[in-house]
Parts: sequence; structure tokens; C-alpha cells
Amino acid sequence: MFNPFKFLKQSVAPDVLGVDIGTTSIKAVEVVAGERGPRLANYAYLASKNSVSRANTVLQASSLKLFEDDAANLLKELMKKMKPNTDRAIASIPNFLTFSTVLTFPEMSDSELNKSMAYQAKQYIPMPISEVVLEWVKIGETENENGAKEQQILLISVPREETAKYQNIFKKAGLSLGALEIEAFSLARCLVGEDKSMTLIVDIGSRATAFVIVEGGKLRFMGHTDFAGASITQALVSALNINPVRAEELKRERGVAGTGPNYELSTIMIPFLDVIIEEAKRVVRSYETQFVLAPKIERVMLSGGGANLPGIEKHFARQFELPIVKAAPFLRFEYSPIIEPVVGELNPMLSVAMGLALREIS
Ligand SMILES: Nc1ncnc2c1ncn2[C@@H]1O[C@H](COP(=O)(O)OP(=O)(O)OP(=O)(O)O)[C@@H](O)[C@H]1O
Ligand SMILES: [Mg+2]
Repeated sequence: MFNPFKFLKQSVAPDVLGVDIGTTSIKAVEVVAGERGPRLANYAYLASKNSVSRANTVLQASSLKLFEDDAANLLKELMKKMKPNTDRAIASIPNFLTFSTVLTFPEMSDSELNKSMAYQAKQYIPMPISEVVLEWVKIGETENENGAKEQQILLISVPREETAKYQNIFKKAGLSLGALEIEAFSLARCLVGEDKSMTLIVDIGSRATAFVIVEGGKLRFMGHTDFAGASITQALVSALNINPVRAEELKRERGVAGTGPNYELSTIMIPFLDVIIEEAKRVVRSYETQFVLAPKIERVMLSGGGANLPGIEKHFARQFELPIVKAAPFLRFEYSPIIEPVVGELNPMLSVAMGLALREIS
């Protein structure tokens, strides 16, 4: 059949930016339609100059204004470096800015569900409903003791103030923000996709670690903790009485492999890594006790800059009786062979940004 829009579609090549504004750095990817699937055309990341010495404060300053201006300037700088062919961007909202809860509803249509959701949400969200943006996903279906069908809904709320902040950052940086997405969804799409294995993604950032349970690319459960990369660096600062820049270097060089001269360093960092592991186990327990009939978690996938800590996979493997794998979002993309040597390191860092772009081009 003759399609009058076909020509138009082909001439306007889809091109989109996925932008992940983290606590200490901004990561961006530019993705276009490739020959067989999405193609990574460009990527860039920029750490805030003071990010290490002011680990927890930089992009999450208590003053919203400061955060906005800092982030917008950094984003502008990043775009200058990247010179993308588009100004169309999709951005992420970190899990740690969200509040999520599981609700049970009788079987009903999506439109009926939408109506009762607003009413139910009032009782569970710790903020006035007018001040939050709500998102929900169906995560399960069961029968109650009377044989009636019920559905479980994961209700997620984000303060409106935070979404406005992100909109302002992109406006100030001269980019057109097409959509804002909670990072859990980007991670699910990009790191699991159609894979059926029940996966726990542990995304270790700087300020927070996000936990996301995914089944076949679908979000099932999410959580977060404030223990993350910065806590591990801070442990070295306090124990060795060294400056944060040196502590950061030591962490990245030596990691938690822990033999010979690195043994002492490992023993300082490991308790903090173990807090993250305990939290991960708590998330799994919480999911598996709420959803007894759901398939059990089959693997743990490490993502975020913290996943590059040398020795982290082995340490996780000692604590979890599950296979531990590293995030590999590049598997879903075509890319230039020139970057092959750095793909291993980039993989966990760019998971969120790549997942955002995949939402538009796949
Ligand atoms: N090679 C490495 N070894 C150990 N840790 C690393 C390595 N590379 C990066 N990190 C740590 O990863 C963290 C930054 O990761 P990432 O860029 O995912 O965080 P972010 O997105 O800025 O933070 P958040 O998600 O908490 O807002 C920092 O704590 C940094 O120390
Ligand atoms: Mg992050």
C-alpha cells in the first residue's frame, strides 16, 4: 500500500539524546536508527569538578536553585563537548526521589483503575496528591480466598517540584525535553529487555543505590538506599584520614579484591559494600514474601559507576547464592569498533542513559 508518510519518515532520521543527571556526573548518549537496530552515535560524560571533594552535595544541594544552575551549566558544557545533531532529549528521575508502594485492586479496566488510583493514592502517598506526579504499573494478578481475581499495582509518586526542576535544567541548557522517566524503567528496558529471567538490578551510584526487580523487561518492584559509592569513598577518608580525591583514587585502583597489601583497604570498604548487599537481600525478601507465587529471583545484575569497583562481582558472589552479572547495555546497540576497548567500563555507567534513548529508538 502506498504510504504518503514513508518518504518523510526516512528523510527525518530518528535521533535522540538520553540524559542521566546523576549526583556527581552527567551521562549522555546520542542514539540513531542503525542498520539492524539502534546505533550509539555518540556518548559523553562529565563529572562535576568538585564532585569528589563534596561527594554528597554537588548536584543535590539543599537549595533547588543551586542544583538547577549547577546541573544546567554542566549539561551545557557536556553538549558543547558532544555536539549532538539533535536537541531532543529524554531524561531520568532517580529512584531515590520516588516513593513507591504496592496496592491491591479488584479486577477492573485501566480507565476504572485510573479513577480509583487517584482516590487510593491519597491514603498511601506521604504528600498532598496535588504536589506529586503519579505513575503505576500492574505487577501481578492473584485470586483471593473467594476466588475473585485481584491485581497488584506498583504505585510510584514523584514530587512535582522535582519534575519541574528537571524541566528547568533542560530549558536552561537549551534542550527540548521530550519525556522524563523514572530510572527504574530505563534500567529494566535496557538491561533485561525480553530476557525472561527474574533479575535484581543493583545500580550503585554515588549518592544512592537503586534496586529494581525485573521480569521480561517489566518492572516488578523497586527500592533504594542511601549507601552507595560515596559511602565507600567516605569510609576510606575517615579510616585513613586522607583527602577524598586520594580516597577515590585508592578505591578505583585497589577495590575490594583484598589480598596482600590491599587487604587492609578491603577490610575498610567491605562493611559498606555489605550494607548495600544486605539492603539488596531485604528487597528480594520483601518481594518474595509479598508475591509468593511469583518466580524467584534468578540473578543479580550490577550497574552504575560503583559496579566498576575491582573485585565487586566476586564479593557479591560470596554473599548471594545467585549468579552475579555485570550490566551490558551495549549489547543492544550498534557502535563503532573504535570504542570496543572502553565498552567494559562504560557499560554500567551508561545503563540509564542508554535505556532512556531506547524508549524512543528500538
Ligand atoms: N572504577 C571504579 N571503581 C569504583 N568505583 C567507581 C569506579 N568508577 C566510578 N565509581 C563510583 O561510581 C559512583 C558514580 O557512579 P554513577 O555515575 O553511576 O553515579 P551518579 O549517577 O552520579 O550518582 P547517583 O546515581 O547516586 O545520583 C561514584 O561513587 C564513583 O566513586
Ligand atoms: Mg545514577
